[in-house]
Amino acid sequence: MHNRVTDILQTKYPLIQAPMNWLTDARLVAAVANAGGLGTFGPNAGRDSLAQEGMQIMEKQIKLAQAQTNGSIAMTLGLNPQGEDQSYAQRVLERSLALGIRFFLVGGEPDEAIYRQVKAVGAILIARSYNPTPDEARRQVELGADLIVATGYDEGGVIPTHGNGTFTTVPRIADAVSIPVLAAGGINDVRGVRAAMALGAEGVFVGSRFLVTQEARTAPVTKQKIMKSTAEDLLLVAPNQRSLSNERMKELARRFKAGDQTTFHQTREMGGVRPAMLHGKLKEGEISVNTGLDLIQTEPTVAELVAELMQDFN
Ligand SMILES: Cc1cc2nc3c(=O)[nH]c(=O)nc-3n(C[C@H](O)[C@H](O)[C@H](O)COP(=O)(O)O)c2cc1C
Repeated sequence: MHNRVTDILQTKYPLIQAPMNWLTDARLVAAVANAGGLGTFGPNAGRDSLAQEGMQIMEKQIKLAQAQTNGSIAMTLGLNPQGEDQSYAQRVLERSLALGIRFFLVGGEPDEAIYRQVKAVGAILIARSYNPTPDEARRQVELGADLIVATGYDEGGVIPTHGNGTFTTVPRIADAVSIPVLAAGGINDVRGVRAAMALGAEGVFVGSRFLVTQEARTAPVTKQKIMKSTAEDLLLVAPNQRSLSNERMKELARRFKAGDQTTFHQTREMGGVRPAMLHGKLKEGEISVNTGLDLIQTEPTVAELVAELMQDFN
């Protein structure tokens, strides 16, 4: 069953696997594309440490995924706030285009120059604000976005500081623009997909649930921890960051509550999601996952998960 999203993404299903930094590599991306969704590379895909040269690994990862699938795959362009340097996103864009990537997930405030270049080559631009508002969504459309992702506070990763949940964000954004909107934040099973469609979305953007699939490079011990945890195990450690609890995260949560404005920066100094989620050092860093993690209790293959989520679209 096709709709405007599948037509734009050239996929079987209106489903995007969201970028999750170190954890979304060629194996996962290709598996999603083969299962009928859009597989999306996150920053640092395929890398194991910061000592490795990022651009070369990115190119290898793209080629590796392309060798495993003819399906649609996307690259993430993470934008800095407007007025700041966008040269890293610029380099990622140029190298990805040279390798034939034609789908870009562009995160952050819309940037005229980057949007113009994506559109000039006829590539597809999927815009995701970190703090979605109707005004910003309209601006994204003006600058040429093909699809908008409306992300709610329920999500895993860096969360919107405005605190608005998925249930209220999706219909506001869907009402503000005439291009298709994908819902993001807390979608872990078919009930979430159905709710998203009822709220006016025409597709879904799913991150956390893919962390616990057989093809995901999330450390086995971390997959187990996610499956055993519930929303009560999550701590707010910064205005825009949650983590499953461990001693270091408890300390950060305590400092954040006491007014420390640097706790997000401190999570980055600890290596972000890399130590605990990629390397399985559960005591050493953040474990970022959405507030619906009670629903993540099994480790299916990507194909099984996509089939479950997309059962209404056959
Ligand atoms: C562990 C983890 C890492 C993430 N890293 C990134 C990232 O590097 N860049 C980005 O734009 N979004 C990142 N995200 C956010 C996802 O792209 C997506 O917005 C989110 O996962 C959707 O909500 P869900 O987790 O509830 O499905 C990350 C999310 C998670 C769970």
